[in-house]
Amino acid sequence: MADRIVELQGLYARLGNGARGAVFECMINGQPAALKVYFEETFFHKERLAYEKICHNNLDGEIAPRYIGQVHLTRNDHHIIWSDIPRFQANPHIYSFDIYPHHTAIAMELLTGVTLYQASMRNIGDEQIKMITAELSTRLVTLHDVVGICHRDLSWNNAMIDKSFNLLSDTEVIPGQVRIVDFSEALFSSACSKKHFLDRCLNEMTNLGALVQLVADARPYYGEHEGQKLLFGVMEEEEEKKKEKNFKSAGDTDDKIDSDDEVEDNDEEVGDEETEDDDDLNRPAEHSYMSDDEMY
Ligand SMILES: Nc1ncnc2c1ncn2[C@@H]1O[C@H](COP(=O)(O)OP(=O)(O)O)[C@@H](O)[C@H]1O
Ligand SMILES: [Mg+2]
Repeated sequence: MADRIVELQGLYARLGNGARGAVFECMINGQPAALKVYFEETFFHKERLAYEKICHNNLDGEIAPRYIGQVHLTRNDHHIIWSDIPRFQANPHIYSFDIYPHHTAIAMELLTGVTLYQASMRNIGDEQIKMITAELSTRLVTLHDVVGICHRDLSWNNAMIDKSFNLLSDTEVIPGQVRIVDFSEALFSSACSKKHFLDRCLNEMTNLGALVQLVADARPYYGEHEGQKLLFGVMEEEEEKKKEKNFKSAGDTDDKIDSDDEVEDNDEEVGDEETEDDDDLNRPAEHSYMSDDEMY
């Protein structure tokens, strides 16, 4: 295993901050890369093992950032010693290395694009959500069945959508456009009972359903969305009702009333409104937010 010196050309922007590490953009040997520095070494070892296992299996589509080799950083900030490890697939792209005695880090391919959270803030379309869901579920099943890993920390911060994927037009997802990152919570099938592993995998697939619903609901500017239309409609109606009531009560009351009476009147009105609202709630909904068929 030959060691050679590679150049780490400084750290640039912080790409993200999580519970277990901070991820920076950097240049390694003139190539853009992402560097994840871990707060605890155990997470580093777990994530490195997960990436190694992923690379051992020659997978069609990519799941995680691609893998290249193992790198040990010396005390000198600008030089890291890179030990080649066998390459398992044609396009691996991860470096892993230790920084200072108390810090470890993994250098990996820089993913350009957005997290699933950022995608939902950018008004992603329904069709795109469906395609990303299908892609994520295929990748998770591959992780579970082929690689023997349960990710256990699936969230909208740990799924990355490539910038080549159009968030608003119905083009198919191609493998590699949806990636899963952050394997620091991974469970390995080799390290627990079969039943425990299968239970965790089942939980993960259930979480995917909840995550997709969250992404769909979180879109703030989705004006065409039935749920949003319904919500704004109800709010407007309530505003109109309030205005009408205020107008009527102002017209009915000729005598001056003291402020205490006014408060009591208002309380009664609020009480009346609540019962009307309750009736509204008991009526069948005319629009459903998103039918099950639409979602899956
Ligand atoms: N390879 C990468 N390229 C670009 N951004 C990344 C990459 N890996 C992680 N990130 C960003 O950094 C954030 C934190 O990384 P993550 O691995 O999830 O750390 P943590 O374990 O602390 O949650 C992610 O949500 C994502 O936005
Ligand atoms: Mg994370």
